[in-house]
Order: sequence, then structure tokens, then C-alpha cells
Amino acid sequence: MRKATDGATKIAHVTDAHTTMDGQPTTVLKHRAVEILDDVVDQLIARDAECILFGGDNIDNRGAGERDLIAFEGLVSRLPNWRCVPGNHEASGPKPGRITKAQFQRRFADHGVRPEAPGFSHAIGDVRVIGIDTTLVGAPGGFVPPDGLAYLAAEIEAATETHIVVLGHHLLVPCWTPHRFDTWDQDYLVRNANEVIGLLARQPRVRAYLCGHHHAHRITRVERRGRAGFGFYQVLTGSPVAFPHAARLLTFAPGGLEIETVRPRLAGVLDEGRQAVLLGRKARRFAELGLSSYFLGYLEGTTSDNHVVLPYAKRRTRRAAQPRAANR
Ligand SMILES: [Fe+2]
Repeated sequence: MRKATDGATKIAHVTDAHTTMDGQPTTVLKHRAVEILDDVVDQLIARDAECILFGGDNIDNRGAGERDLIAFEGLVSRLPNWRCVPGNHEASGPKPGRITKAQFQRRFADHGVRPEAPGFSHAIGDVRVIGIDTTLVGAPGGFVPPDGLAYLAAEIEAATETHIVVLGHHLLVPCWTPHRFDTWDQDYLVRNANEVIGLLARQPRVRAYLCGHHHAHRITRVERRGRAGFGFYQVLTGSPVAFPHAARLLTFAPGGLEIETVRPRLAGVLDEGRQAVLLGRKARRFAELGLSSYFLGYLEGTTSDNHVVLPYAKRRTRRAAQPRAANR
């Protein structure tokens, strides 16, 4: 990976990779996980990503955890610079055929959250990346414990870089509003999200919170309550192995944070993934509410969730800053 010629720092976000060598096709195309991830990582290297951030559920860990770890190691072995946080699939607890979160963290101690640490902090050019562990062992939903909050606060305070980005697995705010899915609130959100939002929104150089877990693609502006203009973007990225089959490239350009979606180039993947996801639990939930026709669009997002420039400057009006679509 080489530095972008225009000097702007470029970082990639790949989450919910579900790497496995023994995967069966479900709503996630686990049987094609390795070839899909190989292709996506190749594209990100070719696009000059200086660091790839893996956002949790990096391995599938559903019966062949050790083999999944080996497959993930093979994937990242060609990357000079990468970091990761755990997801709920790495934190599913001690069960036959699964590795524990501590095992995962020890294996990649130099590239992510160590067992004895609540997070990691890594500078890439003019960007400070702070990774936090949002997992609750054995539960799908997220939580940031007191030592994680303290670590986050201290690292944000100490950061001297122009831009700060925070990486976690779970969402801070829902992307399913105005619809109400109580089980999704429990399964996908950080339970004490307001505490995390308070820390992130306090420092105007925090540009984005990067997350995954929901296998959908969405960018949401999160404002500090009562302080219009103080806030950051929640950048929710889909999985490369499930529809909408996506990873992201983030360029910290002078005029704003440029975000692009990168998709697998392999023949048939998008069609296969689209058909698979329509048979899943999430699609059934939408069907119960009479929202079937909206489901694929919900997962994929719009242009402003995929190719967009997010302005850095805080606005002085009470209206939240809106992403504007990139000219592409
Ligand atoms: Fe997850």
C-alpha cells in the first residue's frame, strides 16, 4: 500500500467479513467468503488504502473457529497495515468448535484490541483511529464498559491529529427509523450508546464512528443534544459477503471526508446475494410490516449512503449538516 499521490490519507473499512473455509450458503454467502474477501482486499490495495480496518465478525466462528482464524490470517498476511475489533461472532462464548474472544485477541494482539486492553489507538497520517470493543460475550447486542469509556475519552483527549475516527462493531443509533423494531434495538445497538455519543460529539475533530453488524449500508449524522453543529457521522457499512456486498474507502480530503463503496467484482455474487437475503429473517420482518418492496433499498441505501462527501465544518444553524452526494 502506498501513500495517495494527492497526500490525502485513505483508510478502508471492511466489516462482517465472516471469513470461513467451511461455510454453507445462508443469507450470507459464506461458501464464497474467501474469494470475495480476496477480491475486495485486492481492490482496496489497488486504491491505495493505507490501512484496512476490520470491524468485527471478521471470522464466522460457527463450528470451525480455528480454521476460520487460519483463513483470516491468510487474508491479512499481505497487508502491511491493518487493525481489527471483535464482533459478536468472535465473542459468542466458549462453545465446541468456536474460539473465544480472548483467543482471537491474543492471535491478533499487534493489530487490534488485546485481551487486557479496552481498545487500540493508531495514527495513520493525519488520522487517529481509536478502536473499541463493543461486544458482550454471548449476546448479540453491544455495550461499552466503564474502562472502555474511560479509554475512549482519554484517547480522544490525547489525539493531536486533524481527524479522529472511532471503530466499533455495534451501532450507536438505529438506521431503521421511523420504523420500530424493538428486537433490533436489543440485538444491534450499543446499550449505553448515549454515553459513547456524548464522548464522540464533544470533540469536533471526531469525524465518524465506523460500525457494521447490521449488514446494511447507511450514513447518519449524529448531533450532540442541544448543540447544533457538534456531532459526527455514523458510517454503517454492509458486509462484503452478504447483500449489498460492500466495503468502504474513506479519503480524508481537504474539502471533506470522501466515502466510496467498493463491491466484489466476481461474477454472479450480487445476484446470488440478493436472492439469498430475500429468504432471510430480516426480509420476513419487513414482509410482516408490508415493507417488502423497500427491503433491498433499505439494505443498500441511496447515493448519499454510498458515494458522498461529508463536510468537516460544523454548521452554526440548528439544522443538522446533511451529506451531499458526490459527483459520480
Ligand atoms: Fe455482528
